[in-house]
Amino acid sequence: MKKIRSQVTIAIDGPAGSGKSTVARRVAEKLGLLYLDSGAMYRAVTVLAIRGELTTDSPELLEQVKACHIQFKDNGKTILLNAEDVSHQIRTPAVNRRVADVAKIPEIRHEIVKHQQRIGGEGSIIAEGRDLTTIVFPNADFKFYLDASVTERAKRRLAEFRRQNVEITLAAVEAEISDRDEKDKTRAHSPLRTADDAIVVDTTDKTINEVVDFIIARVSEDKSTSEK
Ligand code: CDP
Repeated sequence: MKKIRSQVTIAIDGPAGSGKSTVARRVAEKLGLLYLDSGAMYRAVTVLAIRGELTTDSPELLEQVKACHIQFKDNGKTILLNAEDVSHQIRTPAVNRRVADVAKIPEIRHEIVKHQQRIGGEGSIIAEGRDLTTIVFPNADFKFYLDASVTERAKRRLAEFRRQNVEITLAAVEAEISDRDEKDKTRAHSPLRTADDAIVVDTTDKTINEVVDFIIARVSEDKSTSEK
């Protein structure tokens, strides 16, 4: 395992399918960091909205968000919503279609960001999403923005759906992520944007391991982060 300083925060942002989750999970394993999948939290809250047939701006949904318990197990592989394992349910096309509308509600973001910052205060962490480098951890030690062409991102997402036996076409996946990109980048609160001090990585023609190695090299080469 590479040596980095005892307390480190690595934040990654980028659009759907840019490789953030897979990359962050592997870096977490290799460096022994806590992994925070911030999108999973917005997805869990979207499950509450769908189940309760609640509109995204309803007071009922906000109450449920304030009262719910979201916990991660197995370093982010499992997510529990009020003690129920919703790890598979949060990845369905129905949640994909709805999540950006839930995530644009400022009061819901406020609750979730508080929770994320509490988790970040517990120790060294690698966290990924849409506003980790800008809002959640603006003072992160390392910031990365991962991107890739929309077609490449749609192909990656389609492969994930195929593994889960979800029937969907490439065109439908591309339309869904383009729609989500647009909503995430243009919303009034905490839009997806590249932080001024983030390192931008175009992953279109890179393998997961190439991106993982790039991030680990940047984190390790920084002398100030090496353990004395
Ligand atoms: O895995 P994928 O990139 O498709 O999405 P995700 O990271 O699970 O995030 C799902 C959605 O949650 C995004 O499209 C955003 O609308 C929202 N989100 C957000 O607003 N802020 C975050 N920090 C993370 C996700």
